[in-house]
This record gives sequence, C-alpha cells and structure tokens, in this order.
Amino acid sequence: MSAKLVVGTQWGDEGKAKIIDYLSGEIDYIVRYQGGANAGHTVKVKDETYIFHLIPSGILYPDAICVIGNGVVLDPTAFESELDSLKERGIDAFHRVMLSETCHIVLPLHRTIDEAREAQAAGKKIGTTKRGIGVSYGDKVTRIGLRLGDLLETGYLKERLGHILEIKNAEITRIHGLEKIEFNELYESLLAFGDRVRPIVKNTSFELNRALGRGKSVLLEGAQGTGLDIDFGTYPYVTSSNTTTGGAIAGSGISFQYLKDVIGICKAYVTRVGEGPFPTEIHGEAGEHLRKLGHEFGATTGRPRRCGWFDTELIRHAARVNGLTGIALTKLDVLSGYDEIQIGVAYKRNGERLDAFPGMLENVEVEYESMPGWKQDISAARSLSDLPAPCRAYIERLQELSGVPISFVSVGPGRDDTIVV
Ligand code: GDP
Ligand code: IMO
Ligand code: MG
Repeated sequence: MSAKLVVGTQWGDEGKAKIIDYLSGEIDYIVRYQGGANAGHTVKVKDETYIFHLIPSGILYPDAICVIGNGVVLDPTAFESELDSLKERGIDAFHRVMLSETCHIVLPLHRTIDEAREAQAAGKKIGTTKRGIGVSYGDKVTRIGLRLGDLLETGYLKERLGHILEIKNAEITRIHGLEKIEFNELYESLLAFGDRVRPIVKNTSFELNRALGRGKSVLLEGAQGTGLDIDFGTYPYVTSSNTTTGGAIAGSGISFQYLKDVIGICKAYVTRVGEGPFPTEIHGEAGEHLRKLGHEFGATTGRPRRCGWFDTELIRHAARVNGLTGIALTKLDVLSGYDEIQIGVAYKRNGERLDAFPGMLENVEVEYESMPGWKQDISAARSLSDLPAPCRAYIERLQELSGVPISFVSVGPGRDDTIVV
C-alpha cells in the first residue's frame, strides 16, 4: 500500500486541513510529522467548525487512527486541551491517537523563552506563534530536549529534567531576567502526563511501516508550508522544522518507498502571517479587501494575515523541493468579483529575471501578468464545467505556470465544496 503526503506550498494556511479532511475518509492512518501547536488546521463539516493544532485533521472519521510522529514537538497542555474540547463535542479521540515515544516535548519554559525572545528582539522579531516551537526544536538539536518516552521512566526523568533545568534556568534568569523554573512542580506534571498517555505511546515508525506492509493506507499531514521550511523557506522568517517532503520521511519514519503521491496545497492567492519577505504582497486597502473576502485571520493566533497575488516562483520552488505530483488549488471562490486578477510570473533583480526562487528574497521585484476575472459566485460548482470561462482560464494558466497538474479545486470551506479534476 502507499502513503500520500499533503504539504503546504506557500507560507501556511493554504487550506491543508480542508483537503486532508476530504481525503481522509478512505485512509487508515493520518500522521502529523513536524511542527507543533503552532499549526491551526480548520475543518468544516456542515455547520460544525473544528480547529486542530496537534491532533491530525482526520480524527473526525471514527475509524481513523491519528498519529503524532517523532518529528513533532508535543505540548502536553495543548494536546490535553485539544482532547478535552473534542470530548466536549462528543468525539472520544484518546484511543484513536498514537504518540511517538521519541517526539520532543514542548515545556512551559519553551513558550516563556519564545515570548521573551520575541519581546526582546524589537525590530528583528520573527512574529512567531509564541508556542515555544523554535526553542523546543533548538533544544532537540543541541541535545538538551526531553522526549515523550523519557516521561515514562521516573528515575530517568528526574535525572534528565534536573540536567535540562540547570541549563535552561541559567538562560531564563541571566539572559531573560525571568524567575527560575522550580523542579518539583514541572517534574510532577510531566510524570502525571506520562502516566495518562502511557497506553498510547508507541514506536510509531514501526507501527506505520508494519501497517503499510499489511496493506493499510497512510496520509501524512504537513503543517506550515514550503516558504516556512527551515531550509527552503525565507530564513530566518521561517518555522523551525522541515515542512517539506524530506521532513515527512524523517518526521514519521516511514520508508520513502511507500510515498507515491505528494499533493501540494496552494491558495489561489497567497497569504502570510508574521514577519518576513512576501514579494507579491498587496499593500494598503486592496490587501485589506482581499483579507476580508478570504476571512484571512490566523486560526491559532487570530492575527490578520497579509495577502498577495499568486506567486509562480514560489509554487515552482515548492514543486521542485517537494516533488509534487498534484496540486489542490484552494479558496478559488474568494477571487470571484475581481475585474482583473494579477499573477506574479517571474522574479527579477536589478532588471534581470532570476532562474528560480532564490535563497534570499532581498531586492526581488515581481513581474506580473493580468487575467480577466469573473463575477459569478462559484461556490456551488462541483465540476470544472460549472465554472465561468475566465475562471477556468485562470486555473489552466496556473497549472501551466506551475508545471504540476491541478488535481483538486476547492470552492468553499466545506467537505463537499470540492471539484475533483
Ligand atoms: P491550513 O492551516 O492550511 O489547514 O489552513 P487554515 O485552516 O489555517 O486556513 C484556511 C481557511 O480557509 C480555513 O478557515 C478554511 O475553513 C478555509 N478554507 C479552506 N478551503 C477553502 C475554500 O476553498 N474556500 C473558502 N472560502 N474557504 C476555504
Ligand atoms: P499551519 O499549519 C501560518 C509562522 C508564524 C511565524 C513563523 C514562525 O496552520 O499552516 P513559529 O511559532 O512556528 O516559530 O513561527 O511561522 N507560522 C505559521 N504561519 N500557518 C502556520 O501553520 C504557521 N505556523 C507557524 O506566523 O511567521
Ligand atoms: Mg492554519
């Protein structure tokens, strides 16, 4: 059996969860492989809206098993509150969730440091979600992280946490001028969390490969997007994980040979939350207009998203880096009503066209092409032939420019508002 991967191709919030939910009906395992509670994944089913931060978006299907892979940074508080809010809505998710024994833990102190670093960075802040993501991944890489499996061994946890707090408390007090973290309270809460989740902590790489070998299907759920990838994004204005295909393999531990489909989720325009370069950004009132049309406010932090026109270089970059086999074009309905729609078709620097999305976006200018818009509401369309001609032409042009087949077109937030091409 094969695995499918869904990745963001822009700067996050492309509508990944809407497509993941659409695809999950026929999937046995849905897996988050990177990121943490910085993600905000919205699923709309009839009149109900769910926003997932850690639990994979497939959880609404009663037979789906949802996996938090080794590449995720798991915040116990965020995880428990997500389980609780699902329970309040009649979904008992606990026994359908599997947690990797080697995923790293986001400690409260990671959130504190994230917030302090942002506050102290003045004009240089990243605009993080303040969920402690970068600090937790930093500790993972510098080998002072705590893993979920560590919480299951009383003696080991005591020793390990003691060592970690010695280092982190020096940072907290000396650099950030904050109160030191007391050992006991943190130790007790981690121990209690470990005890609660013990039955669902697994070697998820082993479980997934075994399931695939037995003919089960797996859907890997990317968080964030290619522009936020630690290596391929607009560094330093990125998140702290590999959001792209390589990260999906490293963060889930499935054999790459199982991976057959990589679907890139791509908004019909572009948005970005937080700081960092955004070549096709629409400034001023026109940008605000698009934000209103698309209800572009962060699903995790509520921050207004910056809005811009479709960016060909960015999608071509995403196609290369991820090995996209198909694109799901989302939020096309939002563009209804424009007389003209702009498409960023190339990047230039000092008047010369660039070959590709560059490592640094400084001084990049965008060359635009304009296409006629359409006035009709397209949200009821269920096949390409239901769409007005200029809208079909826009889809065809985007496909041509990106060099990847557009396999899905989304015309609304609901499960059914989807055209399969
Ligand atoms: P994700 O992080 O990539 O899963 O995306 P978010 O959930 O953060 O943001 C996408 C937003 O757009 C959510 O509010 C979705 O309900 C909504 N959405 C997704 N697809 C469509 C679409 O085709 N049309 C419209 N109008 N809204 C959509
Ligand atoms: P989903 O999965 C959009 C952005 C933050 C900030 C940068 C670093 O819903 O698409 P971090 O907290 O990760 O250290 O912040 O990354 N960011 C996102 N932007 N969608 C997301 O997730 C994001 N997760 C992080 O705004 O610019
Ligand atoms: Mg989101």
